[in-house]
Amino acid sequence: MPPSDPPSSPAPNLVLVGFMGAGKTTVGRRLAERLHWDVVDCDDLIEARAGRRISQIFADDGEGAFRDLEEEVTATLADYRHTVITTGGGIVEREANLARLHAAGRVIYLRAHPDALYARVAGSSHRPLLQVADPRSRIRELLAHRAPRYEAADQIVDTDDLTVEEVVEAILR
Ligand code: S3P
Repeated sequence: MPPSDPPSSPAPNLVLVGFMGAGKTTVGRRLAERLHWDVVDCDDLIEARAGRRISQIFADDGEGAFRDLEEEVTATLADYRHTVITTGGGIVEREANLARLHAAGRVIYLRAHPDALYARVAGSSHRPLLQVADPRSRIRELLAHRAPRYEAADQIVDTDDLTVEEVVEAILR
C-alpha cells in the first residue's frame, strides 16, 4: 500500500472572521500586540493588489470582481506564520474560501447581534454593501446567509457584552 499523506495541520496563525462592524480589525491589532505577532488584513492585501480602494473596486468592476480578488488573496493566507489575519466580512461568500481559512490557522468568529452591528456601522460610507436605503434589513439578510459559514469556525466569541480586552482574553485562554 502506498504511504498515506501526513495529516495536514493548519498554519500557526489566528484568523478572525465576522460581519462588518464585529471588531475584527481592533481585536486583531490588540491580539497581535499581546502575542508579539504580525497582523495582516485581507482588505489591505486586496487594495494593494488592485491599487485601488475597495469602494473603487466595487464602483468600477462590481462585487464579483472584488470577490475574485478576495479569493486570490485568501489562497495566499496559509503562507503566513505567527500572524493575526483579519478578514473582510464577506470572505465566507465564496465557499471555497472556507477550507483556505482553516488551512491558514485557527479560525475565530467574532459574533455580534445584528442591532449591535448596525449601531457600529451606521453612517460608515466606505462599506459599499451597506449603501442602500435600509442597511438594517441588509445586515439581517446578509447575516442570515453567512452565519452558518462563520459558525464553522474553531471558536466563537460572543462579543456583545465584552470589551475589546475581554474578547482578546477569550481568544488567548
Ligand atoms: C464586506 C466587508 C468589508 C469589505 C467589503 C465587503 C462584506 O470588510 O471586505 O466592503 O461583504 O461584508 P469589513 O468586514 O472589514 O468591513
